[in-house]
Amino acid sequence: MLNQMLGDWQVIYHKYSMGLWEDGATDLEESQMHMIDRVIERLEIVDGDRILDFGCGWGCVLNYILSKFLNVRFTGLNLSHQQCEYIRGKMQDPQSYLSSGRFTLHEGDLNEAQFTEKFDKILSIGVFCHVGNLTNAFQKLASFLKSDGKVFIHIITVRIPNNMSSGFTHKYIFPHGRYWNHDAVPSHNRDLKTVDRWYVNGMNYHKTLTAWLDRFDDAQESIKSLDYGMDYPRFRRIWRFYLLLLGTIFATCDGEYNENGQYLMVHA
Ligand SMILES: C[S@@+](CC[C@H](N)C(=O)[O-])C[C@H]1O[C@@H](n2cnc3c(N)ncnc32)[C@H](O)[C@@H]1O
Repeated sequence: MLNQMLGDWQVIYHKYSMGLWEDGATDLEESQMHMIDRVIERLEIVDGDRILDFGCGWGCVLNYILSKFLNVRFTGLNLSHQQCEYIRGKMQDPQSYLSSGRFTLHEGDLNEAQFTEKFDKILSIGVFCHVGNLTNAFQKLASFLKSDGKVFIHIITVRIPNNMSSGFTHKYIFPHGRYWNHDAVPSHNRDLKTVDRWYVNGMNYHKTLTAWLDRFDDAQESIKSLDYGMDYPRFRRIWRFYLLLLGTIFATCDGEYNENGQYLMVHA
């Protein structure tokens, strides 16, 4: 179901995080390209970098970056077996940059991950809303990073300092998900410290969620027979409500209240 909702194009695979609309994107695919272009710029990716994508989803971000830099090498870390299976399929597809020999997949949890090589750059997009302990996660990421390396983290951030997602989202969509306060990442500076930060207006997420809702509605015929572990009308109601709720939360106060935070970090 997520696959139809999030979109799947030649280079931009399913991307489950905010697209960037404020630079003039006219559709979902373009908004996701613009967002990854911004990540490239802010993480200062250069050709030849060895990069880790922590929580790489379906491999969209790294596939796009591999298409732009012909000597970049990527490792993707992801605990979702289903998403890793999708990536393994792309690794066999000559059309995909994931089959280029410059990509390695590591299926597993950050907490157990070990790598023999250190990375020039680490990026993580839309993952920290599933991470419960920033101190442990930063310690682990720092251990993977070269001494002059850089980490880029993109997460949902909110002004209300409760660090929890809504009760509805917690119960029906992402158990134990959390929306970190704007200052949560920079206030941790034990193993990694924040050297630059940006806040991306919530209207960009509102537009992304609206595009996902449109795609979800348009795909009803092809997705209603899938197994959701509950009757389909109920599943549809829950997901429509989630997309509308989140879209509204991010549109509040013209997107200035709930945003997405981006943080550039180095060794502390
Ligand atoms: C919302 S998705 C974002 C995926 C991708 N970065 C994107 O922008 O499309 C979060 C991803 O983080 C992964 N993830 C969450 N916690 C993880 C952990 N502890 N170790 C490895 N992967 C994790 C999930 O499996 C999922 O692929």
